[in-house]
Amino acid sequence: MGKKQPIGVEIFDKIADRYDAISKTLSLGIISRWQRELVKGLGNLGVTLDLACGTGEVAFLVKGRAKVVIGLDYSMSMLKVAKRKLPEIPFLRGDALNLPFKDASFDTVLVSLGLRHFGNTERALEEIRRVLKEGGRVRVLEVSIPRNPFLREAFLGFLKYVVLPLGKIRSKEDVSHHLFGTIVDFPHYEKLVELALKKGFKEGRFRPLFFGMATVYELLG
Ligand SMILES: C[S@@+](CC[C@H](N)C(=O)[O-])C[C@H]1O[C@@H](n2cnc3c(N)ncnc32)[C@H](O)[C@@H]1O
Repeated sequence: MGKKQPIGVEIFDKIADRYDAISKTLSLGIISRWQRELVKGLGNLGVTLDLACGTGEVAFLVKGRAKVVIGLDYSMSMLKVAKRKLPEIPFLRGDALNLPFKDASFDTVLVSLGLRHFGNTERALEEIRRVLKEGGRVRVLEVSIPRNPFLREAFLGFLKYVVLPLGKIRSKEDVSHHLFGTIVDFPHYEKLVELALKKGFKEGRFRPLFFGMATVYELLG
């Protein structure tokens, strides 16, 4: 791991202690509901990786339903917050683009609001597929852009005129610019499923939440 952190990590590293409060404000409290949707109906998760675990919110949600949960993130500061909240869970520092695990290590990989920050979605999908067991499941939660033209414009306006300025007030870092750009550039819906199939997943589907402002993807290994 080099000294220079990627932008998608640096931002979170600097705001780690305030991250939970910031994410709840920017999403007007909806993020916790989306995270519960991410893990809904999964039953027993087996050996589980919470990839880009941040402050451990998703690890917390699944810890009673998994054989083992490991949280991985590139940001030491986010991991420290996670460790404080959940001392019983192993949290590791690592890069999603070069996962420090053997092939076929996990039954379940969960990525909550992380994939669009990795800087190389194809490479991340390749790595996730590599560490997933045959028959394993991946769930990804990502912010998305509604398809309905009216809602799409309203949502983009909300991002531009509410999230961007609010982010500037809540944080000294230019968090909101990064958040906005990664939402617009992300391969949403079918595009993500297509990429996953190209990277060796057998099946993929997605379920838009809240009129398409977020989406849960399920990819089968
Ligand atoms: C928006 S936060 C999401 C945190 C948490 N999963 C949640 O739902 O609250 C994005 C996280 O991705 C992490 N991240 C960004 N790039 C990464 C990479 N290449 N490898 C591992 N983690 C990365 C950041 O450090 C940050 O903690």
